[in-house]
Amino acid sequence: MKQEIIISRDLQAELTAAIGRVGPDRLFVLADTTTAELCWPVVSGFPCMAEAQLITIGATDEAKTLDTLAAVWTALGEGGATRHSMLVNLGGGMVTDLGGFAASTFKRGIAFVNIPTTLLAMVDASVGGKTGINFRGLKNEIGVFNEAQTVILDTHFLRTLDRQNLCSGYAEMLKHGLISNEENLLELLRFDIEHLDYEALKALVAKSVSIKERIVTEDPHEHGLRKALNLGHTVGHAFESLAMAENRTVLHGYAVAWGLVCELYLSATRCGFPSERLHQVAQFVRETYGIFTFTCKEYDRLYELMTHDKKNTAGVINFTLLGAVGDIRINQQAGKDDIFEMLDYYREN
Ligand code: GLY
Repeated sequence: MKQEIIISRDLQAELTAAIGRVGPDRLFVLADTTTAELCWPVVSGFPCMAEAQLITIGATDEAKTLDTLAAVWTALGEGGATRHSMLVNLGGGMVTDLGGFAASTFKRGIAFVNIPTTLLAMVDASVGGKTGINFRGLKNEIGVFNEAQTVILDTHFLRTLDRQNLCSGYAEMLKHGLISNEENLLELLRFDIEHLDYEALKALVAKSVSIKERIVTEDPHEHGLRKALNLGHTVGHAFESLAMAENRTVLHGYAVAWGLVCELYLSATRCGFPSERLHQVAQFVRETYGIFTFTCKEYDRLYELMTHDKKNTAGVINFTLLGAVGDIRINQQAGKDDIFEMLDYYREN
């Protein structure tokens, strides 16, 4: 059954219908400590939620562990969940990833619905069936592909999101613009993220999700085209890991935005990506996300971190690059010299 993605107009009606399609014997809602406080009250009064049992977990990525997963399985078991029960994941990417995995594995799998509450989860994490937890210090090391039965995107939840988390999600939208077409990209670069027009944002979210949906429908298990969604992430993950090792807080989307600039530079030097677009994106990223600071002493470490990326095969770093906006080139390899030159470019611009 294909995942249903709904841009919400009437959350109560849509959630009632999503639950009705399954007709579960018991209903559970997974929230984190923040969404339990801010978002659960929005839905808890709906008649379809009258019997729902709330399960609350920690709110940060540190809670995305086997222990938390076991606590969710335990709560489901103690709450009387059967194979015919249903879980509604109400939260950001951590909740939809961990909740999706908990639902996919409990009694070999129960139905689940995602109601993402952050921009990052709306345009990326909650759509496309990637579920999982962090394990032994590695992000999303354990998990399965399994799509939520329904994903309901209600942009009203974004009204309580802080600027940093909005910008973080916006980086994935920028990535979707880059892998789709010039019109989408330019619209995103023109959008005023500092003075939000929520209706306009809703339209951009719908467009962004449809780009991801098209790609995951064609290649759900990331054998080819889905690798396009990794644009910016090979370098972005290395920046994120370096920052974590140095106790610097960096949100995922910020690292992706900086990674996009680096990988567009590689795209320009290796695949002919137009330099005008590179400069436009680099300027937008600098103004919106600031810069990630590091010195040339850290190049070896960053290179080493890039070699650990999940997409690599046999120790070779595989990038997704672009020949132009929308011209996707997967499985592009770059040597150490190219990568060091890219890091020089990033620091000097
Ligand atoms: N976050 C990238 C993907 O879903 O494939």
